[in-house]
Amino acid sequence: MTAENEFTVTPYSVDGEIDYEKLLEQFGADQLSDDQITAFPDPAHPLVHRRVFYAERDIDRFLSAVNAEKPHSIVTGRGPSGPMHIGHVLPFYFAKYLQEQTNALVYIPVSDDEKYFLKEMSLEVIGAHTRENLLDLLAVGFDPDRTRIIVDTADGDVVYPLATAFAKAVTQSTIEATYGEPANIGLSFYPAVQATHLLLPQLIEGRHPTLVPIAIDQDPHIRICRDIADKQRYDVDKPSALLSKFLPSLAGPGKMSSSDDAPSILLSDDRETVFEKIRTHAYSGGQSTVDEHREQGGDPERDTSFQFLSYFFETDDERLERISQEYRDGSLLSGELKDIAAENIADFLECHQERRSQLGSLVDELPAYRLTDAERNRARHRVGFLDNGVF
Ligand code: TRP
Repeated sequence: MTAENEFTVTPYSVDGEIDYEKLLEQFGADQLSDDQITAFPDPAHPLVHRRVFYAERDIDRFLSAVNAEKPHSIVTGRGPSGPMHIGHVLPFYFAKYLQEQTNALVYIPVSDDEKYFLKEMSLEVIGAHTRENLLDLLAVGFDPDRTRIIVDTADGDVVYPLATAFAKAVTQSTIEATYGEPANIGLSFYPAVQATHLLLPQLIEGRHPTLVPIAIDQDPHIRICRDIADKQRYDVDKPSALLSKFLPSLAGPGKMSSSDDAPSILLSDDRETVFEKIRTHAYSGGQSTVDEHREQGGDPERDTSFQFLSYFFETDDERLERISQEYRDGSLLSGELKDIAAENIADFLECHQERRSQLGSLVDELPAYRLTDAERNRARHRVGFLDNGVF
């Protein structure tokens, strides 16, 4: 980041206080419209009707397929650079919700290669995060018949040939114009891998609309992929995007980051830890004394605890509205609001952790979600490679 009031958002770095409207202009994506929100299956997920997913590319195509009960898929992935925090799971819980409503196919790529190229971490450490993250992804509870999980370096027989086909369509100068100068040639190549993720459902199942619900920092990858798809050699639709704001950091407006000073709330945190983190660190939109607060009230828009509730952790609209009003009029104190947020988040995490603890080992659980041999070969054939088995 540079001077005050500036911000950076790329897949590789997010910094500063983000102006989400300006970002849309920079990226050339569109605001999600009221009509589009209405076109989601009823009831729309709170992340949609509260506009945490606030922007889109080409989403009408996806919504038409959903409403016509035609084939459609969702791709949303995870870069395994550390333990997952509550901001990381929003797209996955959203994808699961939509899968339950529409029976969508869901593809979940895990980009261990990307995080190895990007971070100062050994392959062993990335591998350990990958396994931990996979258990959290499985704990979300996707339907194994309609869900595929791909790990880049473990599914190389599919990912590498497809990425090879797509990499040839992207020049180094496009990469530099989109991401800045990459730190190594791995990062120059990686956008072809993520394009592979986004096109994989169509390469396996035939042409159909795909939605990528993800935080807005991933939009450059989506743009690159849409350009590749545009070339139409592969008879695919350009993937549609549904782009979200970042869950705020405990420290206040901005992205919840794994690396800044205030701690993140991890999926593994117990109830006590959640309360402790929120009571100690959550940025408050309230006044500095109780008397002032009773008199002037607080500002929910600047209060991290309220933001947590409104993003995801209080699904009841009426209750949320009541909390907001009581905070504004001063009858609800900052400490009380913090405890409501902590309570809801701890409840959510307990359910997640309970499902995770019911899982067997990865070796037992993952196979149901991996690509079948037939699917692998279909994808390879679609771009012109031979069966894996002929060598
Ligand atoms: N690049 C994403 C990240 O850093 C992870 C990811 C990989 C992804 N493939 C994806 C996200 C496909 C959405 C869709 O977090």
